[in-house]
Amino acid sequence: MPALPMNEVVRALMAHPDVADAVLSSERSHDGRQFEIAFVAVDPDRLSVGKANHLQAETERRVAQWRRAFDQAYRHDADSLAPSFVGWTSNFTNKPIPEPEMADWLDRTIQRIRALGARRVLEIGCGVGLLVEKLAPGCEVYCGTDLSPVAVQRLRAFAQSRPELRHVEFLEREATDLTGLLPHSFDAVVLNSVVQYFPGIEYLHTVLERAADLVAPGGHIFVGDVRNLELLPAFHREVQAAKAAPGATEASLERKIFLSIAQDRELVIDPGYFQGISETIPQIGAADVLLKQGSSYELTRYRYDVVLRVGRQTVSARTDNNSLVPDMKHWADERRPLATDPMAAAFLQHLGMALGNALRAELPDAQLPAAVIALSQRDFAEIVRALLRVPADPGSREAAEASI
Ligand SMILES: C[S@@+](CC[C@H](N)C(=O)[O-])C[C@H]1O[C@@H](n2cnc3c(N)ncnc32)[C@H](O)[C@@H]1O
Repeated sequence: MPALPMNEVVRALMAHPDVADAVLSSERSHDGRQFEIAFVAVDPDRLSVGKANHLQAETERRVAQWRRAFDQAYRHDADSLAPSFVGWTSNFTNKPIPEPEMADWLDRTIQRIRALGARRVLEIGCGVGLLVEKLAPGCEVYCGTDLSPVAVQRLRAFAQSRPELRHVEFLEREATDLTGLLPHSFDAVVLNSVVQYFPGIEYLHTVLERAADLVAPGGHIFVGDVRNLELLPAFHREVQAAKAAPGATEASLERKIFLSIAQDRELVIDPGYFQGISETIPQIGAADVLLKQGSSYELTRYRYDVVLRVGRQTVSARTDNNSLVPDMKHWADERRPLATDPMAAAFLQHLGMALGNALRAELPDAQLPAAVIALSQRDFAEIVRALLRVPADPGSREAAEASI
């Protein structure tokens, strides 16, 4: 098969109307195989249009993907109906998170929610009932909702077998759907380890607005296990370092870290979002951003909990002693986003696949890159900078192409 000069591939990619720039990078697999990856920068206007066009469909698709993923995980553990740690997988090892870590995480979460003193609780995204089992017996009213029909059926059957859980009501529905629930009818709404699966910060905002109406004044919304945007680079650095092949170069590690950040499709949120929330959801009087407690492991190191107090407050927002909330002035100056954008990531992934297919159709006999990765212009500039760090003094994209 004739190997077309790779510049031909770059030219073909750049002919696409969504693509503002393109570069090829040589990579080495774990078993020493050499292969090419094409990175393309998507024109910012095309990215916003593409995202907007895809938004509704992508939002639904994303939610449906999580429904399938959780259904599958929960079906796996079908032998027993009892709540379990099924589906809690370590990013570092791709194996189940060790049981002692999960047990510690659960105990501390329960303690934090119990401290709110709620007797009427709505739990959004209740899963297979880890919290239900511990919290519901002490509550007058407990309602659990979840996207996954498998979770809801399983939990209903489990609750029927336990007299202390017979009063619990389960609803199979998406987090945004709070229809039929009465205003001010709960002391607390709990969203624990759920919001990272939401398709975007706007979706979360809608859920919080609707949830705030359901909470009686003086009550709380507990948002647990939020992935911290400030720690996203540290998280991916540690994961990639743990997974790196022996002898991997610093440059290839840097690229992997960078790409895993750019392609992270979960919602990762800056604590500052919660700190400013009462400006846009006036029912929320104050926000407490809390460090995870316990020894250091994956679920405590990069995540935090938030307690939102419903009703007017004199103090606007506070954090615990080890503040996680950045200096807001700093954020305003840098105009850094307050959350990742899973929908943009989904659109870019979709576009990368479409470009790969277009290349195969257009240059059927060529040696093509193993993948086309579409990035925002800012991320593309970062990756080019990282690629150019390898050669001594590359002045242009062509130099990078030639030398890597
Ligand atoms: C990691 S589990 C957490 C379960 C439980 N809250 C706990 O702390 O053990 C996440 C749950 O959120 C649910 N979920 C994900 N996205 C959702 C959405 N958009 N609406 C409702 N539930 C959702 C999943 O089906 C899954 O059961």
